[in-house]
Amino acid sequence: MIKVAILISGGGSNMISLLDSMVRDHPARACLVLSNRPNAGGLPKAAARGVDFCVVDHTDYTDRSAFENALHERLIAAGADIVCLAGFMRVLGPDFVRKWDGRMLNIHPSLLPKYKGLNTHARSIAAGDTEHGCSVHLVTAELDDGPILGQASVAVQNGDTPDILAARVLEQEHRLYPQVLRQFIERGTADTTFQHG
Ligand code: GRF
Repeated sequence: MIKVAILISGGGSNMISLLDSMVRDHPARACLVLSNRPNAGGLPKAAARGVDFCVVDHTDYTDRSAFENALHERLIAAGADIVCLAGFMRVLGPDFVRKWDGRMLNIHPSLLPKYKGLNTHARSIAAGDTEHGCSVHLVTAELDDGPILGQASVAVQNGDTPDILAARVLEQEHRLYPQVLRQFIERGTADTTFQHG
């Protein structure tokens, strides 16, 4: 059974969609939900589902590498094979990213390579796009830049505000992330990528 750790910073709605997908004949189970914020709304939701959870608060560490070492130790202790970033709002440095190379996924609310970074919905509306959406990609050292594993789009409608558009994209995120994770795992287990050596 493949073990998936989910990293969050906020409400954790993508976390919920991933947790709810890893049931029955799914080849993976969640081994840990980790938040860098002690008050993340997703933590009690993970607890309610009986999933192990913990906080590694970045403000407790003097620098990024100390924080990332603590993060890495927790993930290893939990036996994680794959890491899913789900609204995790810290940029991860190249050393940490290298340790999880090919095993760390992120969901980003834009049709990458458009709109890396923040405020994607407002930027899409301001640009007059007719289409916006979300992408699941492998995490590399460059922000929101790794190979794209899947995308889902929505139409931008007249009168959309960033919040209205974000809500419509979020619905697609909840559908896309579990679907891409499952395909990713099924491909990886076929060629033993995720088996502990
Ligand atoms: C999502 O839009 C995700 O794509 C972005 O942050 C938001 C997190 O929402 N990176 P949630 O915490 O999963 O509800």
